[in-house]
Amino acid sequence: MSRHSPRTWMLASALLGSLGLSCTPPEEPFPNQDELELLQSLHTPSRLPPKDPTNKYGDDPAAAALGLRLFNDESLSSCGTVSCKSCHDGQGRSVDTAVAQGCDGKLTGRNPPTVLNAGYSTWFMWDGRADRLWNQALLPLLSPVEMNSSPALLRARLSAEYAEDYRALFGKLPSEETDDNLLLAHFGKVIAAYERTLNRNDAPFDQDVRRFLDAVAAGTAEKDPAYLGLKTFVRKGQCSACHKGPMLSDDQFHNIGVKDQSAGARGVAEAAPAMLEWPFNSRGPYSDAPGGIESVRLQRLGNDLSEKASELEGAYKTPTLRNVTLTAPYMHTGELKTLEEVIDLYDKGGEPAGNFAGVVSVTIKPLELTAEEKKALLELLESMTGAAQ
Ligand code: HEC
Ligand code: HEC
Repeated sequence: MSRHSPRTWMLASALLGSLGLSCTPPEEPFPNQDELELLQSLHTPSRLPPKDPTNKYGDDPAAAALGLRLFNDESLSSCGTVSCKSCHDGQGRSVDTAVAQGCDGKLTGRNPPTVLNAGYSTWFMWDGRADRLWNQALLPLLSPVEMNSSPALLRARLSAEYAEDYRALFGKLPSEETDDNLLLAHFGKVIAAYERTLNRNDAPFDQDVRRFLDAVAAGTAEKDPAYLGLKTFVRKGQCSACHKGPMLSDDQFHNIGVKDQSAGARGVAEAAPAMLEWPFNSRGPYSDAPGGIESVRLQRLGNDLSEKASELEGAYKTPTLRNVTLTAPYMHTGELKTLEEVIDLYDKGGEPAGNFAGVVSVTIKPLELTAEEKKALLELLESMTGAAQ
């Protein structure tokens, strides 16, 4: 087969175009070098999440054991009936409704994401209003629509049930911990230690990618059963522009045009300024590494807010696609019930402008996927669910 440079083709098609004829270059074999590197980034995640220097209890088994009990404890809520588990239970560690119910029947504003593999993320909540797993835990504890708790209630409950475990870890009884913020930070850190054990990886997808890479090396990529799904994911669908790396997320914020006309529709643009000033963030006094690499990440977000504000408008965190069959419904609104609906949304290039804040990211465009490509993409997404622990 003869090879032509893209430039030759552009010249040729410009010439033919000017004669009123059209000409499409033959498709480049998949994967090209860039695509190959991208596919290599999709490998199986490390068995344990990367260390979090801002939480020195993060990998302490005693902290994780206490965290598990607190995660399931409804009496930490003001109404006595809501725990973390209430909204992060079952196989998917989420709920199967668009939003969830907290104290007194109040509803959350957004869809609860899974807490499986949460230890691998760097931003939390759809709009990134927490920058570490441990500080995230304070938000539902104190939120009036979730557990509606308070430092006083937390201290009372810890004193009644967990006093010795708390002292063994932090050297003081909860009743002696007079700094409310420190008490809250300790709560968050033991919860995070538990959540860091909730990992579910090793999916059929990982084996398929490994086999596909071998086929590429052997020159038989096109014959591999994962060929069309991966090609659609990486090339025509551009999914891997954002869903990449071992967690199938770039851990960044993008506007993909999900319908949302609620008060919080501005996403990270709305949430980031307060988070950057939050005393519990990873550069604040409750972090165990306030001057560490974590603070660089916050600085970058601060810069983006002033230099690329329009890209953050209506932008949400790229969720992991691991275990995605277990976490329906989808998107921050929980509006899409099935993965077919998700594929259709991308296929049309997001909702029409005016249905959401800001403008869609440059990668979000109508895709014109064929029925075959949609099916292959669906099967690929379905293969991303890991084996039960
Ligand atoms: C009433 C339901 C409810 C309760 C109770 C609840 N959550 Fe959530 N959780 C949610 C919702 C909704 C979100 C998404 C909120 C948002 O992004 O605005 C969420 C987000 C999260 C996230 C972020 C995941 C990610 O990928 O960004 C983590 C981690 C989490 N919750 C852990 C907890 C912990 C720990 C507790 C207990 C201290 C808890 N949740 C209690 C509903 C709940
Ligand atoms: C520009 C970055 C970007 C691209 C390209 C992209 N996504 Fe996403 N994806 C996101 C973001 C951000 C969200 C969450 C959006 C929201 O809720 O507003 C998301 C959400 C999802 C969800 C829902 C997950 C959940 O737990 O709710 C699925 C499934 C998904 N994407 C699959 C795909 C597929 C398949 C493609 C390619 C056709 C793709 N994405 C292309 C950034 C992207």
